[in-house]
Amino acid sequence: MRTPIIAGNWKMHKTVTESIDFVKQLEPKLAPYQTVERVVAPTFLAIPGVSEVLKNTDIKVSAQNTHWENQGAYTSQISPSMLQGLVEFVIIGHSECRAYLGETDDMINKKAKALLAHGLKPIIAVGESLEQNEAGQTEAFVGGQVRAALDGLSAEDMANVVIAYEPIWAIGTGKNASGEIANNIIGGTIRKTVRQLYGDTVADTLRIQYGGSVKPENMMEYMSQPDIDGALVGGASLKVDSFVDLVRIAAEAKGN
Ligand code: 13P
Repeated sequence: MRTPIIAGNWKMHKTVTESIDFVKQLEPKLAPYQTVERVVAPTFLAIPGVSEVLKNTDIKVSAQNTHWENQGAYTSQISPSMLQGLVEFVIIGHSECRAYLGETDDMINKKAKALLAHGLKPIIAVGESLEQNEAGQTEAFVGGQVRAALDGLSAEDMANVVIAYEPIWAIGTGKNASGEIANNIIGGTIRKTVRQLYGDTVADTLRIQYGGSVKPENMMEYMSQPDIDGALVGGASLKVDSFVDLVRIAAEAKGN
């Protein structure tokens, strides 16, 4: 049984004060849903304050990115060792970082390795563009992203990895992939690729989220799919009530 995982990626939203106020309101409302792993990903600046509020709770904190080096002349960057003790998860490979920051598969692979070496858990985001989708290239492209991100990772490492399938055309557009389509890519491409690389045990225990215009209204459609183990949520994670609804629906749908 895979524990469902719902992560709110706040992107470049909420000041430090707003983030802290938000998790103070959110925490008691999420507390009942212990069968779902609940994660918030604030901006770097807000991580220390948010982590402090959540330190004696079972709500986890994630960063939205990391560098792969531990220190050095990398102006503006944050390293895995700086995140240690503050977060449990780190999102890497988000399509916005690939598109706007020029991140490549090779960089994402280095980040995954660096995080795992520091005892941090990568949430590796993959997903195809609209053009690739329409040209029938989704399976080849997403499969390639998965292989590249996981290159050199061991089966033991994989116990600490989460993958998020986020079709670029569905992010922030309100144009979500149907539950069935998302499940087909997650099961038929991502989990299949992991099965080829690592075998059944790793493939059957790896958690794979869907992301892209997830909201309470379509959450049940995703969570009722057998291969979808949770969601990576942008917009709908910025409001307490919709975040709580998403987690409640995940708990109901996964029946635990
Ligand atoms: P939206 O839920 O706002 O579409 O964002 C999805 C996303 O990019 C989460 O990482």
